[in-house]
Amino acid sequence: MTTLGVNIDHIANVRQARKTVEPDPVQFAFLAELGGADSITVHLREDRRHIQDRDVFLLKETIKTKLNLEMAATEEMLKIAKKLIPDYVTLVPEKREEVTTEGGLDVKSNVQYLKNFVENLKKSNIEVSAFIDPVGEQINCSKEIGFTFIELHTGKYAELTGQGQYEELQKIIESAHLANDLGLVVNAGHGLNYNNVEKIAAINNMNELNIGHSIVARALAVGLEKSVREMKSLIKLN
Ligand code: PXP
Repeated sequence: MTTLGVNIDHIANVRQARKTVEPDPVQFAFLAELGGADSITVHLREDRRHIQDRDVFLLKETIKTKLNLEMAATEEMLKIAKKLIPDYVTLVPEKREEVTTEGGLDVKSNVQYLKNFVENLKKSNIEVSAFIDPVGEQINCSKEIGFTFIELHTGKYAELTGQGQYEELQKIIESAHLANDLGLVVNAGHGLNYNNVEKIAAINNMNELNIGHSIVARALAVGLEKSVREMKSLIKLN
């Protein structure tokens, strides 16, 4: 069965827009779990643009499912992960100027560095995943490095339509099969939404999908009317 990891970075985005205390991603992780989330994903970025250190340590104490910490493969993040001990770390590429993660991690060009990095995390009993493009060489290198999981980047699939999307889907399916044959556990994510998720969820042995933006956007759509109604009723009291 494919499980759902809910990425709550966007809750923190709204909070950080005002540099205030609400909405609190820790509180919303609880709601995501009530809705059936199988794990909670947060990306602690070097620039701390959304998720903060306080969030990850509180989540570790409060969530009842699993904590997936997305992070860059840097010394600073390694120290934090080894202190936090999340259930999983997913290594992602990170550029300060990007709006969101733009592509997979190039594991092929960093085999030795990543081998040491992954080994170090595993010593602390943290399982490690690599967020990579659906490309055979990247999958083979992920196996060589010692990752337990890969997360296939579905961003391109999500952006394309028609024949282009179909071809990208075939690449993702082939990549998932190759990874399974190598003994890697396969996750996928980025850009998945209520229209495009089913074909990805239907891939054989797909372990977990990590989804954030579309779920938070939908939460606003289904919740805004109620929140306005509540405010209106308070105003009417006076
Ligand atoms: N997986 C990874 C590695 C990501 O970086 C992101 C975005 O933070 C996601 C999944 C979720 O993508 P989206 O917000 O588009 O659902």
